[in-house]
Amino acid sequence: CGIVGYIGHRPAAELLLNGLKRLEYRGYDSAGIAVVGDGRLQVYKQKGKVNDLAAALRERLPEGTLGIGHTRWATHGEPNDVNAHPHVSSDGDFALVHNGIIENYAALRKRLQQKGYVFRSETDTEALVHLIDDVRRATGLPLPEAVRQALTQVVGTYGLAIVSASDPDLLIAARKGSPLILGVGEGEYFLASDAAPIVEHTRQVVYLNDGEVVIVRRSGYEVRTIDNVLLEKEVHELEWDLEQIEKGGYPHFMLKEIMEQPEALENCLRGRLDLQHNTVKLGGLIDVMDRIWAADRIIICACGTSWHAGLVGEYLIEEFARIPVEVEYASEFRYRNPVLRPNDVVIAISQSGETADTLAAVREAKRQGVLTLGICNVVGSTIARETDAGVYLHVGPEIGVASTKAFTAQVAVLTMLALKLAEGRTLSEAEMAQALRALAEIPDKVRQVLTLDEEIRRIAHVYRYASNFLYLGRGYNFPVALEGALKLKEISYIHAEGYPAAEMKHGPIALIDRFMPVVFIAMKDRTYDKVVSNIEEVVARQGSVIAITDEGNGELDKLCEYVIRIPPAPDFLTPLLTVIPLQLLAYHIAVMRGCNVDQPRNLAKSVTVE
Ligand code: G6P
Repeated sequence: CGIVGYIGHRPAAELLLNGLKRLEYRGYDSAGIAVVGDGRLQVYKQKGKVNDLAAALRERLPEGTLGIGHTRWATHGEPNDVNAHPHVSSDGDFALVHNGIIENYAALRKRLQQKGYVFRSETDTEALVHLIDDVRRATGLPLPEAVRQALTQVVGTYGLAIVSASDPDLLIAARKGSPLILGVGEGEYFLASDAAPIVEHTRQVVYLNDGEVVIVRRSGYEVRTIDNVLLEKEVHELEWDLEQIEKGGYPHFMLKEIMEQPEALENCLRGRLDLQHNTVKLGGLIDVMDRIWAADRIIICACGTSWHAGLVGEYLIEEFARIPVEVEYASEFRYRNPVLRPNDVVIAISQSGETADTLAAVREAKRQGVLTLGICNVVGSTIARETDAGVYLHVGPEIGVASTKAFTAQVAVLTMLALKLAEGRTLSEAEMAQALRALAEIPDKVRQVLTLDEEIRRIAHVYRYASNFLYLGRGYNFPVALEGALKLKEISYIHAEGYPAAEMKHGPIALIDRFMPVVFIAMKDRTYDKVVSNIEEVVARQGSVIAITDEGNGELDKLCEYVIRIPPAPDFLTPLLTVIPLQLLAYHIAVMRGCNVDQPRNLAKSVTVE
């Protein structure tokens, strides 16, 4: 979900709606705003997108210079008008928006119902509203204090914001497990789940930490812990600018982000490859490099696309650094009571730096006392701040829900890390020089792959009505097969599976008939001949094959329906190239099927609940 808030001198409603549009990638089941004006609380909320809400309000935008807003990714209760946020206290005095999950809501609900509170929605959030109300009535405390006290009774996670009709100069927000940022302007303040709605107004921000409450008035703000300790908070400067969060002429953020991968990779590699001294420089890791070198084992934790990048990382680090690597779904790792030893290193990969499961994995690793590293894109994000050290992707904001440029940058960072770990140990200087040069050439090769866009669009047109797809690859390109399948699934709703090519014969081969397109990644690497045999096996069963292979390789033409040729590269760098046609294929198929590419159903970009 996404949260916004505003207090200042400008009309709040429009600011809130614009802010919500920028946050919509975090969830888009329903949207709502509450504006305080004329001593009244005006709440509008409905199922659907922010634009639907904006259209409904066009003629009658509520007036007032204080308000909060929410765009929802449903957890408890289906996405309908009643379950949409904000939720209002029973006396109509205050409204609350919430991101996260109140885990003890059933118990709270029961207790509050016994006290006579009437629940209108099926959300866990409403329990929080009545709880605050109840504390306030029982103690007579002012709202900020009542909020703090109520929060001490809550089990679960929240980012929340509250406004009240009886105090038009008060915006309250609190965080535990769901990100919140306060933008500091001149006599005005902006609250949001991430920087996107803030950057067009101010670059000065304060990051709230878990267990903190901020009380904002037009004259200033104060941050306290839930236990009422006043804190000194540092004001940070945002890096991103407005242009980066707009579509810049492209029909979708996803296409923009696919197309900007050459520049994104250049930014990611900039200053990090020293071709003169044949060394990699990862500034964020300097202080811990000795400990990583001494690692007995590296455990990579991530979710979704970031997990796929982690798998490529496993191949890279094991090949170059000869350190054993395990790649874990963060959600499994955290609950398994994992065995960590003192010289293990945990690397969390997360574009947003906010994914709840990945964050929990980091906390579990810290609890067990091992070194934690973060590979994040969002500067100042929770995972970036909570890990001991890390490397930023520096690819600018990724808005499309399906991750593209973050994936290639994650792989690029893992490549640099693997090479860094190999420096002076497993690679000779000449080998290192060769590897670094090849890596430095990748952005240009990505540029060349992107010129195949039209060809891939034509292939997409042929397969747009397929209902299943299989993606197969081996070695470094096995994770790419998984990622290609995920991209298609996420945005076109076509069922797709990724598999190691050789594993096909142990199951998926049963699915193959003439209606099953199979995408093969068949680069001329050490597994090429085996992969060609797998292609033969598919063709023998009338499957229709699309292959990605090296430029100049004509061998597959007679076997495959379509062959996509991309510039050759050393094995370990091919994932950075082979994934691009798969991103484009998924994109075009989704567009042709009329799907909402940037906001696929049921998904959210940043999943800050477990
Ligand atoms: C969500 C997104 C995926 C993303 C995953 C991990 O499920 O829809 O695209 O890969 O979260 O996100 P992270 O920000 O941790 O990389």
